[in-house]
Amino acid sequence: MTDWSVAPGPASVELASKLAKVLGADLLNINSQVFFDGETKLTLDCDVRDKRVIMVQSMYPPVDTHLVQALSLAHRLSEDGAQVFALIPYLGYSRQDSEFLKGEIVTLGIVAHLLRSVGIKRLVTVDIHSTKGLGYFTVPAYSVSAVPLLGEYFRNQKDKGELVAVAPDLGASMRVEAFAKILDIEHLIFEKVRNKVSGEVTVLDRGMDLRGKRIIIVDDMISTGGTIRRAAATLLKNGAEKLFAACVHPVLVGDALDKILESGVDEVVATNTIPSSISKVDVASPIAEYFKTL
Ligand code: R5P
Repeated sequence: MTDWSVAPGPASVELASKLAKVLGADLLNINSQVFFDGETKLTLDCDVRDKRVIMVQSMYPPVDTHLVQALSLAHRLSEDGAQVFALIPYLGYSRQDSEFLKGEIVTLGIVAHLLRSVGIKRLVTVDIHSTKGLGYFTVPAYSVSAVPLLGEYFRNQKDKGELVAVAPDLGASMRVEAFAKILDIEHLIFEKVRNKVSGEVTVLDRGMDLRGKRIIIVDDMISTGGTIRRAAATLLKNGAEKLFAACVHPVLVGDALDKILESGVDEVVATNTIPSSISKVDVASPIAEYFKTL
């Protein structure tokens, strides 16, 4: 047993329950009701005074609703005398971590400020888009990595022969290196160029011989699926035999998954930071390990 309690936010009920089980922690009773206009009413049915509470709430779409739910829950837990540790497995707005164009608001900074203002003691997330984002938090902030678990999933499922891991852009390079190390396979890093004004993205194709190779494209998240589809087209053009994709956060906007499968990717695997049909890898254990160190 530990002295931790886990408060499940409406976006992460299943993961919260898994985490409580792995940690041997108390699972708190939180009721939520979403009204027709989109507003949420949250009700706590527990005494949290002097407890260390892990509030679990992922910020996948509807992102702003899930943010407000996290803020409300953290605020009340903190007002009731708990020490609140915000576990936001998928941290929405983490791609908005810089003023890429003059005048752009760095919304991740606002999110960090809001979370701090409701009294959180610490922020824990999973594979934040860039570690730069952690710097916006004035409370201790840490990103647990689920990439080794994704690597283990593929190591247990696929024969290693002719497997190559691919980063669809430079930002994914450290993740793909860690992933390839687990499988003990080669890796490639693509260069993706995004027009900052139009948003148009191109993968630089420097020409590669990938005949007979089975490729796993590794990224932190899949949102519209455009990044994976563009990488898939380049890989197939260069002779790749079979394609798989692995990501930590399956945001999967609209029909993103269908479009990826139609583009020639055989299987897409993700973690359960966001619930989805492809969330096959459970991140509860590495998160629990981190909390055990606190
Ligand atoms: C970008 O740098 C990220 O790491 C992902 O590659 C990107 O955000 C995925 O978005 P989408 O699926 O819309 O291409």
